Amino acid sequence: VGTLAQRNIVLVGFPGTGKSTVGKVLAEQLGWRFVDTDDYIELKQGTRISKMFRELGEPAFRRIESEAIAAVLEGSEQVIATGGGAVLAESNRICMQKGGYVIALKADSETIINRVKQDMNRPLIQGDVNERVQALLETRRHAYDFADLMIDSSLVSVEEIVGQILSAIK
Ligand code: S3P
Repeated sequence: VGTLAQRNIVLVGFPGTGKSTVGKVLAEQLGWRFVDTDDYIELKQGTRISKMFRELGEPAFRRIESEAIAAVLEGSEQVIATGGGAVLAESNRICMQKGGYVIALKADSETIINRVKQDMNRPLIQGDVNERVQALLETRRHAYDFADLMIDSSLVSVEEIVGQILSAIK
């Protein structure tokens, strides 16, 4: 795949598909830095993402997110976990494809709902979690298809997923 020459591994996927969990373990195994773009944004802005959605609105958050993705992808030897909506802008997708090997994690809706239902820092999944997840999954049905590799995280352990990624990039 020539992946390691591509400098970064970018994990994309719906919220709750395991991007951060998998990314941390993968980075450790590769000896690369782990970067979570949501954490990067919160650190830079000094605010929680939920607060940014509330006070600035989603379009402003998306602009900040695009800047963060471009900035992080300047670096190399990083495993980068992105926010679930980071793939929506074409410019972000192009930036990811240029700067790294893009891996999409997916999971079935039941798995996703179980993973996200406790988390209050996901502004797009507040209220009726079931309904919100189903609706968002529907609108984003093909949003992650541009990835170089797609892995289902529903029924496999983090170690197995990391193993699959490592053998795909070797
Ligand atoms: C979002 C997902 C979140 C975060 C923001 C918007 C989305 O990241 O970037 O709340 O649009 O799906 P996670 O995928 O880490 O939950």
